[in-house]
Formats: sequence, C-alpha cells, structure tokens
Amino acid sequence: MNKKYRKVIIAGNWKMYKTIAEARAFAEEFKKIYQPSDVRVAVCAPYPQLPFLVEAFRGTGIGVGAQNVSEFDKGAHTGEISVDMIADLGAKYCIVGHSERRANNGDTDELVNTKVHALLEKGITPIVCVGESLSERDRDLTMERISYQVKAALYGLTAEQVKKVVIAYEPIWAIGTGRTATDEQAQEVCFNIRENLRAQYGALVSRKVCILYGGSMNAKNCAGLLAQPDIDGGLIGGSRSRTLPRSSAKAAGRSKP
Ligand code: PGA
Repeated sequence: MNKKYRKVIIAGNWKMYKTIAEARAFAEEFKKIYQPSDVRVAVCAPYPQLPFLVEAFRGTGIGVGAQNVSEFDKGAHTGEISVDMIADLGAKYCIVGHSERRANNGDTDELVNTKVHALLEKGITPIVCVGESLSERDRDLTMERISYQVKAALYGLTAEQVKKVVIAYEPIWAIGTGRTATDEQAQEVCFNIRENLRAQYGALVSRKVCILYGGSMNAKNCAGLLAQPDIDGGLIGGSRSRTLPRSSAKAAGRSKP
C-alpha cells in the first residue's frame, strides 16, 4: 500500500492531565523546537485548555483537538459539550470512542457513529479509536472485533466522508501499560482495517484513510511502527517526552506531569 496518498499524523492525547499553567509551559517549549514538516501534529487536550492552545499554536500548523464530544447538537444535557462548541473553540480534531470512554463512560458503537456524523458535518476530523481487549486477542477475536468497530463507526457515511476520518488502532492491553503491540501485530490489524475499507468503499477511499497506532508508543518503538506500510502515525498518551526523540516527543506532548 502506497503511503504517498496519506499524511502522517502524530497526535497527543493529554487525557485528564495538565492545568492551564502546565499547558502554557508546554506550548512555549514546544513552539521553540517545533519545525513544520509534512507530518501533521495535533494536541488533543481537555476542553478548558482548547482556547488557549488554539491561540498559542495559531499560525504554526499545529492542530488542536478535543477528546470527546456530545452526540446531541444542543439541549438540556447538563455537563455535555456540543460539536458547535468545540468548533467555536477552534478544535480541528476530536477523539471519538477512546477505549477509556467505551469502558467508563458508556460510549457504544452506535454513539460513536452518531458523534462521527456530527463532527464531519461541522468539518472536524474525528479520530476514531478501535481496539481489542487482551482476552479477545487471546481468543483470536481481534480482527472480528476491530472490523465490527470500524464498520459500526462509519455506518451511513458517504465514501467522501470516510476519506476524512482518521482511525486509531489502539489495542486496549497496550494503552498506558508499557506493553506495545509488535510492529507485525500492529501492521496486521491496520492492514486488515484498510482491506475492509477497500472492500466496502473501494481502493480510492481506502488508500486515503489515515490509520494511526496507539498504545505505549514511545521513542524506542515509534520508528518500527511508523515504518509499517499501513500505519500512518500515532496517537500518543503517556509517553514521557524525555524518552522520545526530540521531534516526536514534543510533537506528541505528554500526558503525565
Ligand atoms: P498511551 O495512551 O500512549 O499512554 O498508551 C494512548 C492513548 O490512550 O491514546
């Protein structure tokens, strides 16, 4: 599969870390060492930090994203944040269906699909997370699980819309555990995702869709993972910047203080 049709994306998932002051310090440091390239860089931060980060990164090419969004467009939904609201803040990306939200906040495949539709309608790029549990992997159910999640997340989208979705393959057993999928394991699943997209939407669409790997990606393993033909970048959470090469560390941000 030829990578020339796709951009590499390195996205940081800050989860529920960093105060505004910490985000400010990060942005200042990052801007000093960031060098624009063909790689797209995004920071997916908690909502309160989005306006500040959008402002801090204005004109740099560094994108800012949210980590979740409501499936409703407005209404009596106390505590929720709508797509319009994150668009107002300047978010260009939004993580959807992260396994932590699927496990702890009731994000079902159906909900993920609704959110993906809502985001695309407002021009925000959804980063759709999919991944199998360790027991699913052990029972050889990985491909079945991932195929289902991808199919469900994209249900009802046009081929043109599918091209705009970013998929992040994040095996649950690798997230925050320090245990990474091997290059071969990650490539096998990402290849499979692309094959399914090809079967459903055609080759022109499947070669355009960016597929990221996430789950304990760090300085030691990122080169091997990113060299795989169907892995177009990374979604990086807790990797400490001191363990990452200068460019990708700062690009990804770090989620733990
Ligand atoms: P991790 O997290 O890099 O800490 O494993 C990735 C993620 O949760 O997206």
